[in-house]
Amino acid sequence: MPLVPPYIESLRPYVPGRSSEEVCRQYGLAGARKMASNENPLGPSPLAVEAIRRHVSGLHLYPNGGLDLRRTLAETFDLKPENVIAGSGSEGIMSGIIRTFLCDDDEVLTTDAAFIGFQVLARSRGVAYRTVAYRDWHYDLPALAAQITEHTKIIYLANPNNPTGTIFTKHEFDAFYQHVPERVLIILDEAYFEYAKDNPRYPDSMHYRYDNVITLRTFSKIYGLAGVRIGYGFAHQELIANLLKVKLPFEPSTLAQAAGIGALADKEFLHRSLELNARGLRQLTDGFKSMGLEVVPSDANFVMLPFPGPAEAGAFTESLLREGIIVRPLGAFGLQHCVRVSTGTDDDNAKCLEASRRAVSLVTGG
Ligand SMILES: Cc1ncc(COP(=O)(O)O)c(C=O)c1O
Repeated sequence: MPLVPPYIESLRPYVPGRSSEEVCRQYGLAGARKMASNENPLGPSPLAVEAIRRHVSGLHLYPNGGLDLRRTLAETFDLKPENVIAGSGSEGIMSGIIRTFLCDDDEVLTTDAAFIGFQVLARSRGVAYRTVAYRDWHYDLPALAAQITEHTKIIYLANPNNPTGTIFTKHEFDAFYQHVPERVLIILDEAYFEYAKDNPRYPDSMHYRYDNVITLRTFSKIYGLAGVRIGYGFAHQELIANLLKVKLPFEPSTLAQAAGIGALADKEFLHRSLELNARGLRQLTDGFKSMGLEVVPSDANFVMLPFPGPAEAGAFTESLLREGIIVRPLGAFGLQHCVRVSTGTDDDNAKCLEASRRAVSLVTGG
């Protein structure tokens, strides 16, 4: 056996969206607008920042494994702390799920071009990773159900989905769930839950109390805390008890936990962020459509633009980068002809659309 297992050797690492500093350096720009990583353009929740400040003096002490945040979340969502886990972002918890539940012969099942973070984590375990194609940029849940085998252990569903921004409905999920054996764990990744929750067709997974479903949510998106690394999960207490055995004992950090508790109380920031995003989605969707681009309808804080081919997607991205607008080409996800654009401030969105108009005329030669 080689030192590095072949499935690690051949693994392509997670490549995050590019930073403003890096793009400014490369293109000789004074500033750039980051619309590549679905972050909150308003910055972090002010109550989270206050909470971080209050906890700085206790940094010489080890954290308590997220217990305070678990209690606060349990109270907020009317659960027991035994049903809640907190971790270093929802990806921290995903990593724990993979380490806790997967055996060598198990299979993971999801859609093509699933959230890249999950793809990398699942593939790093060296188990079979199977996918089905999108149907009109939505999860094809009937096709997924048809692919379940006796080896299937985990089914990963992101709702809303990244990178498409689409949702599956309550009705679609209910029909799908009938086909999933109890021994299969469904990960319902609701990183963009807050943006979709008011859509009456959206299935809030907190209304499901299935023993084989784990819901993951994060403070990285609407609460503006991507840099702090704090996320949480809800599930049956037996699943949580096993995840807690595997979790790094001092994850999440003291400051991450404090930020999460502070953010949960920040209703004003949540409201302001939702309003800005709703405006931004309309502005970007209408603007891109007016240029003749295809825009996938989104329930999240970004839109996906499918281009005729990789060359057009690449030229569009590059042209925006030269003007200091950072968007996300989706080659790493497996969608070489698509680009994802996160909503920004009103001004970011306007500047992005102006630059896109010039980019489109370059790309189409018009
Ligand atoms: C679907 C989905 N899940 C999870 C995450 C990661 O969240 P976290 O920052 O909590 O690890 C993202 C971030 O882009 C995402 O799009």
